[in-house]
Amino acid sequence: MTAPIEKPTRENVVEVRGLLSQFGDRVIHQDLDLDVQRGEVVGVVGGSGTGKTVLLNSIIGLKQPEGGSVKLFGMERETMTKAEAAEVERRTGVLFQQGALFSSLTVLDNVASPLVEHTDLPAKTIRELAEMKIAMVGLKPESHYLKPAELSGGMRKRVGLARAMALDPELIFLDEPTAGLDPIGAAAFDQLIRDLSDDLDLTVFMITHDLDSLYAICDKVAVLADKHVVAKATVQELERSDHPWIKEYFLGPRGRAAHKAA
Ligand SMILES: Nc1ncnc2c1ncn2[C@@H]1O[C@H](COP(=O)(O)OP(=O)(O)OP(=O)(O)O)[C@@H](O)[C@H]1O
Ligand SMILES: [Mg+2]
Repeated sequence: MTAPIEKPTRENVVEVRGLLSQFGDRVIHQDLDLDVQRGEVVGVVGGSGTGKTVLLNSIIGLKQPEGGSVKLFGMERETMTKAEAAEVERRTGVLFQQGALFSSLTVLDNVASPLVEHTDLPAKTIRELAEMKIAMVGLKPESHYLKPAELSGGMRKRVGLARAMALDPELIFLDEPTAGLDPIGAAAFDQLIRDLSDDLDLTVFMITHDLDSLYAICDKVAVLADKHVVAKATVQELERSDHPWIKEYFLGPRGRAAHKAA
């Protein structure tokens, strides 16, 4: 008898090749390549306006690329059937930069909304699953019937994360999850993301400006500059990079402080 073959776990769940993104004549991405492997927490950094959110939107299908290819779970986005696109949506969670909670819905209904949309589960089960996700992100049951306007910024981020996790995704996209949080709240949020990744083998694509997050929880950091990904490496490797933007970012005063803190 041969030993059972272990399921390969290091496949690319995201594979971007030669991406071209434009708005009219304005080129945002050109020849952009990026791989994200299963179980990795990848930080995505780059100056404001370099196209981090546009990259996220291109990967999740909210923006049609002008060229190149985007594969998710081995499926080519451009040639995906409707059923495959729905499957990808089910296996993927997104926390948008602006939060994008439904302002008229309670916390519970916000978190339940993907379950209502994508499953035929009975209402009671949906409610229990939503309650579980709310607890998982560290919110108390007292929050269930609050509306987004009644929450603090940090609580809103947690609700957004609970909603992104509602369908037990394998891959999650986070756009500036810790922006606007105080340092303690941000560190707790970082740890939550790291724990989710470790415990659930969740793959994380996280856009961030937060150097502390990069040092604390990211396996790799992808740097967006000059319209493409100029490096994807560990922070330690990036600290030795010769690229001018990377140098300034990691070896500037804030980078040095984050390095020290880590
Ligand atoms: N719908 C759109 N129409 C036209 N231009 C757009 C559109 N969306 C984004 N852009 C442009 O694309 C560029 C990249 O925007 P993007 O939002 O991806 O930046 P970003 O890297 O996420 O910045 P930030 O760190 O400030 O969030 C910007 O110059 C922006 O003006
Ligand atoms: Mg952005």
